[in-house]
Amino acid sequence: MNLTTKSASRAALVTATVTVSLSASLILASSASAATTLGAAAAQTGRYFGAAVSAGKLGDSTYTTVLNREFTSVTAENEMKWDATEPNRGQFNHTSGERVLAQAASTGKQVRGHALLWHQQQPGWAQRLSGSDLRQAAINHVTRVATHYRGKIHSWDVVNEAFADGGGGGRRDSNLQRTGNDWIEAAFRAARAADPNAKLCYNDYNTDGVNAKSTGIYAMVRDFKARNVPIDCVGFQSHLTNSVPSDYQANLQRFAALGVDVQITELDISGANQTAVYGSVTRSCLAVPRCTGITVWGIRDTDSWRTGQNPLLFDGNGNKKPAYTAVLDALNAGGTTTTTTTTTTTTTTGPAPSTCTASASVNSWTGGFTATVKVTAGSTALRGWRVTTSLPPGTTVTNAWSADRSGDSGTVTWTDVDHNGSVAAGRSAEFGFLGTGSVADLAPTCAGS
Ligand code: G3I
Repeated sequence: MNLTTKSASRAALVTATVTVSLSASLILASSASAATTLGAAAAQTGRYFGAAVSAGKLGDSTYTTVLNREFTSVTAENEMKWDATEPNRGQFNHTSGERVLAQAASTGKQVRGHALLWHQQQPGWAQRLSGSDLRQAAINHVTRVATHYRGKIHSWDVVNEAFADGGGGGRRDSNLQRTGNDWIEAAFRAARAADPNAKLCYNDYNTDGVNAKSTGIYAMVRDFKARNVPIDCVGFQSHLTNSVPSDYQANLQRFAALGVDVQITELDISGANQTAVYGSVTRSCLAVPRCTGITVWGIRDTDSWRTGQNPLLFDGNGNKKPAYTAVLDALNAGGTTTTTTTTTTTTTTGPAPSTCTASASVNSWTGGFTATVKVTAGSTALRGWRVTTSLPPGTTVTNAWSADRSGDSGTVTWTDVDHNGSVAAGRSAEFGFLGTGSVADLAPTCAGS
């Protein structure tokens, strides 16, 4: 539907827009002072910096000293996987997972649960199941484990590595996939029901640039958002060797534009360019407002699953490597994030009053910026929305996603597209755009229909 047609069709519903209130807050991460740990440096821009942790190493004081000092998030490397948590059908063992959780909780770190369903590290009894019996066992596993940890897990990797490598962009064959293509959404729905406050993530590898595999996952997430399947975040493992794809940041950004948070979840980098690539990956996350944190997959090189490749930030003695300094410096340099919030009340004389608010995050660099605009419905569902932004002179929109626009400069009106016009009460939709020039405050206003 084009903009003119859509505006006309909604005119019957919305007859007057009467009040506008404006508030703005500005967060300039670039003004942050230099922090001396990864966690503190990441916190300056509201992000976490985490590590995968192994319960068996928590008695090693070198390991726990670095863990406690540097990190603000923890992922259990193996302890919350299916083989560890349900070694026999219906018999659960959370001893090791609880050890990781307790270490994190005692030092104020958030926990990423990893992973409720995966084709690897399944207990033998599950590997021998198929069809509806496996489906039932898998969903029961999600429900029971997420219920056990309810309220204690910040984010769950609900499903791990379900897409195939290679050019097709489709699902990986596995016993879980053979239970039916809807196994992933069934898992997400079960996880939401079991722990409504945990963020629910899909996590995968070789998805670090725009490629067939990441595009297959992108299509799944877009479909889930369109059908209200509960998904909040996408993890990019980022097991890298010597380089990072040139479109790494753009790939993160295109997922974020679907209305999910993104995280770098299992970062490790081998090779001669290790230091530079660590810096580059960190800056990419900082440049994407919805990239909420980075986790490295282990603490010291000797803790890594990549034996002999030394892909982490600390050497075997727990000393900081040059890669550590590159990451810390990048975190301390920050990104520039601007947040503005505008509240608009729309009065209708038609069928139902609808209100909405709009807020904008702007990430700027010399000569350009990316804006992400969040539209939130008030107490009534939106059938559609219209957002107005004010671009200063010399600023031009060059590209946009998830909204139609009235022009490229000055006052621009943005209108929902087919997949994001319907917004339930209290829920949000997003759109975004790229531009040249410099923006401090987009002053977005929202009108609902
Ligand atoms: O604990 C047993 C030990 O008792 C036994 O003696 C030994 C003999 O092989 O095995 C030990 O278990 C190993 C376990 O790590 C703990 O060290 C398993 O064999 C080994 O397979 C397991 O590897 C883990 C791997 O996932 C399994 O696929 C790695 O630690 C873990 O880092 C790795 O993590 C995955 C993520 O979950 C998903 N993304 C990829 C990532 C790297 O492969």
